[in-house]
Amino acid sequence: MNDRGQNVGEAYPKKLFLTSLKRCEANPGFLASFYERFMKSSDEVARYFRFTNFEKQHKMLMKSLELSARATEGDREGLREIAMRAETHSRPYLNVRPPLYQLWLDSLIAAASEFDPEWDDETEQAWRRILGFIIKHMVSHYDG
Ligand code: HEM
Repeated sequence: MNDRGQNVGEAYPKKLFLTSLKRCEANPGFLASFYERFMKSSDEVARYFRFTNFEKQHKMLMKSLELSARATEGDREGLREIAMRAETHSRPYLNVRPPLYQLWLDSLIAAASEFDPEWDDETEQAWRRILGFIIKHMVSHYDG
């Protein structure tokens, strides 16, 4: 363990990501700020969310991020979550085109860096590693 409670040599920095996510969650407006940035990033993205109930969406995304992070360690519930999200976002359903994930990532990192009072380079790397894993899975299942 190092001083941030992370196992040295851990393949994915899940703990660092989850503790940062908790700090963001405790800071009101985090996910509202993320979706605001994300929708401003392109008209195409804004169109996807024109009928969205954001109160519900915020809860679902937070739960999904917590669960998905566990997939990096092969946790069964985590793997089930990323499989379901890959399916709902695939071409036949929500049809989230793969290039949009970069905008999603940039918007979420920008919001987290503002809402986590302890944000630093190591934290950013943790977010990029964990979210990169999830995005790779979703994109590779775009066509089902
Ligand atoms: C790894 C990245 C992402 C994660 C973890 C994620 C997670 C979620 C979750 C948990 C939901 C609610 C349950 C569901 O409908 O499946 C959802 C809905 C949705 N997501 Fe994503 N999402 C991601 C990326 C994206 C991207 C890049 C877009 C592009 C526009 C997008 C568009 C949507 C839309 C349109 C909905 C439905 C909203 C509604 O109900 O009105 N998502 N997402």
